[in-house]
Amino acid sequence: MPNKTKKPAVPARPKGPSFAKASDGRPSAKRQSQTVDAQAALKPLSTKGTPQSLRGMRDIVPSEQKYWRHIYRKAEELTAAYGFERLDTPILEETSLFVRSAGKQSDVVEKEMFSFIDKGGENVTLRPEGTAPMVRAYINHGMVNLPQPVKMYYWGPMFRYERPQHGRFRQHHQFGVEVFGDASPVQDCEVILLAYLFYKELGIKTAIHINSLGCSSCRQTYQTELNNYYRSKRNQICEDCKRRLAKSPLRLLDCKEAGCQPIKESAPHIVDFLDEECKNHLMRVLEYLDDLQVPYVLNPHLVRGFDYYTRTVFEIMLADENPEQAQVALGGGGRYDNLVEQLGGRPTPACGFGIGVERVILQLKAQQIEPQDDRRPDIFLAQLGDAARRKAFMLFEDLRASGVHASANFSKGALKGQLEIANRLGAKYTVILGQKEVIDGTVLIRDMESGMQEIVLYDKAGSEIKKKLGKV
Ligand code: HAM
Repeated sequence: MPNKTKKPAVPARPKGPSFAKASDGRPSAKRQSQTVDAQAALKPLSTKGTPQSLRGMRDIVPSEQKYWRHIYRKAEELTAAYGFERLDTPILEETSLFVRSAGKQSDVVEKEMFSFIDKGGENVTLRPEGTAPMVRAYINHGMVNLPQPVKMYYWGPMFRYERPQHGRFRQHHQFGVEVFGDASPVQDCEVILLAYLFYKELGIKTAIHINSLGCSSCRQTYQTELNNYYRSKRNQICEDCKRRLAKSPLRLLDCKEAGCQPIKESAPHIVDFLDEECKNHLMRVLEYLDDLQVPYVLNPHLVRGFDYYTRTVFEIMLADENPEQAQVALGGGGRYDNLVEQLGGRPTPACGFGIGVERVILQLKAQQIEPQDDRRPDIFLAQLGDAARRKAFMLFEDLRASGVHASANFSKGALKGQLEIANRLGAKYTVILGQKEVIDGTVLIRDMESGMQEIVLYDKAGSEIKKKLGKV
């Protein structure tokens, strides 16, 4: 029997920390009843005017698509060259996946997740990042039994309830790679190299900032030291830092408040607290990068926003003289050697990166790097009158089937309008078929650059066009 209970149209609650208290991510009875209560506070469904896209979420309109295709092609080309396979994970996951991986105190979990209780009572979240789902999939599919390392990449939307601003959205897209089962520093280097090449080959100059967060034991010693240092300056730091001091001292190094900068500058550096193995690991990563002439900056304040990182962390910043621009992270990543085990898998070292696609596009535009439009047709077919339209349609199919990139607009009547479209699309040639051409059994081929026109027999048009395009 279908359930006749009337369900509210929007099952989510509107605001507030978005994860259930229960460690398995299932909503407690209390949590469920709170969710129902919260529904009273929901905004009513709008019934007037044209619905708009949500704040911080954007349509990717046709004129933007060439940037997306260009970047995606670069990602495909580099991942194929370095032996990465694609893995797609669902956009919706159990909330506990992110709470257990990113950490309860992380900004993403504390403030930014799009979480809701689904109709089955499950606490679910629109993925805010790609690493945890990749780890889950690696474990779920028993990939530990494959020859290691397992190298995979992903591309897709991520959701974070942030305050939207330039380059910061509530839905953004990431291209990311993750490598499982290789603890060696050369793997960190390969991942960093890939991120570096990605931007370099797109024409964007970057600066790679690197740090090491050590293993859990050296980090512990460092956190105590950092705590002591900041506690002695407690009356000079901002309210946010006071909160961080109590909850997650490493994030003190993330503070952007002007007043806290001198204190941060003099704070102890984690590299001075690394044990021999962690220090060695970092040195070897840097040596490999030197060999490959990948430029980097050692940044002792780089901590990243998720709890899962161990040892190498890095961020790809814009190489820009303007200090504000130089703070823009185009991508980031690092090693997370404990996460697979933490999520129930066999101990497996891993590392990877995530790159924000929208930020790459903003840079391409700012630097006026316009990708070649791969949709530019070789040929446009223009026609006048019904008989010409039918013949043009047949020629179109013939050309398309033999690999010519043809375009046409068969519903347009006037020749002028069709030639305007051909121009706008940047077609190399336009084939014109009017009433006279139908009677004569010919077509007119016009070179759109030189304006030269040539009359060719209709039956020979296909082979003539292919010859002109060098496709025979
Ligand atoms: P993340 O630094 O949080 O790392 O995000 C990666 C990149 O996504 C950022 O550097 C930025 O370019 C872009 N990004 C993040 N949030 C937004 C936003 N609200 N709007 C626009 N772009 C944004 C991660 O997500 C890790 N999972 C990366 C990783 C992979 N670490 C190891 N493997």
